[in-house]
Amino acid sequence: MTQTTPLGRTSVQVSRLGLGAMTWGKPTGMARLNPAQMAYGPSESGVEEERALEASLAAGVNLIDTAAMYSNGASERRVGELARGKDVLIATKFPPSPFTRANRLPSELDHSLARLQRAAIDLYQIHFPVPWMSIPKLMNLLADAVEAGKVKAVGVSNYSAAQLRLAHAALAKRGIPLASNQVQYSLLYRKPEVDGVLDACRELGITLIAYSPLAMGALTGKYSAATRATGFRRFAPNFRGRGIEAVQPVVALLRQIGARYDKTPSQVALRWLIEDESVLPIPGAKNGKQAADNAGALAFRLTADEREALSQATLAWRV
Ligand SMILES: NC(=O)c1ccc[n+]([C@@H]2O[C@H](COP(=O)([O-])OP(=O)(O)OC[C@H]3O[C@@H](n4cnc5c(N)ncnc54)[C@H](OP(=O)(O)O)[C@@H]3O)[C@@H](O)[C@H]2O)c1
Repeated sequence: MTQTTPLGRTSVQVSRLGLGAMTWGKPTGMARLNPAQMAYGPSESGVEEERALEASLAAGVNLIDTAAMYSNGASERRVGELARGKDVLIATKFPPSPFTRANRLPSELDHSLARLQRAAIDLYQIHFPVPWMSIPKLMNLLADAVEAGKVKAVGVSNYSAAQLRLAHAALAKRGIPLASNQVQYSLLYRKPEVDGVLDACRELGITLIAYSPLAMGALTGKYSAATRATGFRRFAPNFRGRGIEAVQPVVALLRQIGARYDKTPSQVALRWLIEDESVLPIPGAKNGKQAADNAGALAFRLTADEREALSQATLAWRV
């Protein structure tokens, strides 16, 4: 049976793990040069995307995350196709751009709804803050969308603690809770613990949705100096030089702990996040096998000593 919990202080019931669909869909033209595609390369195939969703649903994962920006709408379109008629929550994101202003939100929302083939979006997030869009104005537009029945829960992404508090306060004036803040968080990226974001989420009852929870794949244990990643990701600190060497003892510890439960390094790394009840990781999956593996993080627990050992082993990434 699916174990769900409220998303923030909303009535949306979500599993403790989601599925990231950033690499999904078939981009054409310039969209093939999209940052997500350039960093990771595409998912394995359309069939494997379908298997990834099926494996996730079968294991109790009921949230899939996409964004209007991913491959210029191709990811949303693919998620819409695959999720049609299925009991799955869809999270997507408003795309701020240098050429748009906040008042474009209602029309961008309508475009996302059309690509997703849905009458309402379960979680609509502001993808990232930009100085030319006032946070209270964006929140008022989101509140209008909730009142119009087009959005069920409101979230933000890449917001600092101060921006989060501002968004929360603006929505509160309209009687709407801020459901989530989606930020990068993993054993190899522990900034939310020190920049006030995790504390603010706990205090205000906001779910911290952890993106890149496998540190873009570094925590899966399949990459080393001898086996490098594909795409631009290979130039990221954890994928080259001393960085990739420093990751290896962390992977060894994940393997050692995982061996006690017959779990993979990815599952242990995701479990370390899930053990914090305010955190919801959304690992990306390029095929059914990866999605099934990641969903296996829902089916065991770590001891307090194991969590602490992992926290101690990754203190260098807590900056
Ligand atoms: N809000 C934002 O600004 C933002 C930014 C980034 C991402 N996101 C969201 O977060 C989601 C996940 O983040 P992410 O894709 O950056 O990083 P991630 O989840 O840490 O890593 C995903 C990558 O790791 C590999 N992988 C995943 N599961 C695996 C497994 N079980 N075994 C082996 N390899 C596995 C796959 O790539 P390979 O097979 O090629 O290694 C996959 O593409 C995205 O899909 C997106 O929805 C949001």
